[in-house]
Amino acid sequence: MKKKILYFALGFSLLTACSASTDCHDKSIPFNQTVETCDRKVHRTMAEMVGVTDSMPRNVYPGQTRWNKRPNVPEEWCSGFWDGCLWYDYALTGKQDVLQAATETGERMLYLAHAPLFDHDLGFLTITSLLNGYRFSPDSTERNICRNALLAAADSLALLFNPRVGTLLSWPRNIDMFGGHNTIMDNMLNLELLFWAADETGCEDLRTIAVSHADTTMAYHFREDGTCYHVAVYDPLTGKHLYNCTHQGLNDSSVWARGQAWAIYGYTMVYRYTHEPRHLAMAEKATDAYLCLLHAQKDCDYVPYWDFCDPRGDKAPRDASAAAVVASALYELQQYVDSAKAIEYTEQADRMMVSLSADYMASDDCPAILLHSTGHHPAGSEIDAAIIYADYYFLEALYRLSHTLGSSTE
Ligand code: GLY
Repeated sequence: MKKKILYFALGFSLLTACSASTDCHDKSIPFNQTVETCDRKVHRTMAEMVGVTDSMPRNVYPGQTRWNKRPNVPEEWCSGFWDGCLWYDYALTGKQDVLQAATETGERMLYLAHAPLFDHDLGFLTITSLLNGYRFSPDSTERNICRNALLAAADSLALLFNPRVGTLLSWPRNIDMFGGHNTIMDNMLNLELLFWAADETGCEDLRTIAVSHADTTMAYHFREDGTCYHVAVYDPLTGKHLYNCTHQGLNDSSVWARGQAWAIYGYTMVYRYTHEPRHLAMAEKATDAYLCLLHAQKDCDYVPYWDFCDPRGDKAPRDASAAAVVASALYELQQYVDSAKAIEYTEQADRMMVSLSADYMASDDCPAILLHSTGHHPAGSEIDAAIIYADYYFLEALYRLSHTLGSSTE
């Protein structure tokens, strides 16, 4: 009983310290209408992709009416997201033409099972495409093909593990640039491939690697207040943590919004597999830090600036992809936390989805679903663009919303 009162008090203080001051939108998303709009966009991209077999949709800049595409190779971390969009659209609508497109697109990702390992993004590439194929395909032969490819990919991904450090190396090509074994927060998401493969096969080594990565990242990648650095660098020989820095954020001490989103999503997913209270606590701490910074923006927009510390404030580019990642994660996280927090996290996720659907949906001229994401601001790349992964996590959030709360949100 005492515990419950304490939880309530903490929840209350979080809300009072960090609550948003403005409330401009309805609290719930027009669910059916939003799914219809997304499905229309997915069909439009399906038409654009007819006969395109060697590349995948990546981004659309303002004024453009077709996707800029990138080759389907292990060096392109976003190649799996289009297949994932198709799988979630199929899961939401049950349409057979979407199923066929998802299956055919997924077949183009199978080569990854035996391609030379490039970097940690093998996880993003296969989880979004083949793991969703394994989960959603109604055809047992197709599911088995996905399963075999995923198991081979998991073994390949595990080769990046350095037992002295305790994490997977993210970018082998950047060891000299960072002066050591580099691990980025984004890498947390790739642990899903290892946990899933461990559950499928009973291979405890894969689970041990994934847990070690999550625990080491917890120890060295976060500040006291629950915000995270983008990169942690370790001595590959001694395993000693050397320093933290950013690669895609504003600076080393800033909070890159999508990096924080990866942390929230990553520890929520890890808890799904480990049921370890420390992983749940990390997911909550990262979430509460994100919500505090989001509410400090003091407007009715639940989409963050690309970096919470951008001194331009409301003139800074936003990142719709970060909002979509966090909304999707919170629909999962709300299942694991106490009831006061579950209500709060669900309401926050709903508000993010309302902001995205009210103010960020692309018009019919644009093939993408969401506008206004920021890819790599310091490199001047994909600033204020529609990017395929924002659409993927938005569709995933819609799917999770329909399952956790029922689709009576119209
Ligand atoms: N994983 C790369 C990014 O979030 O931009």
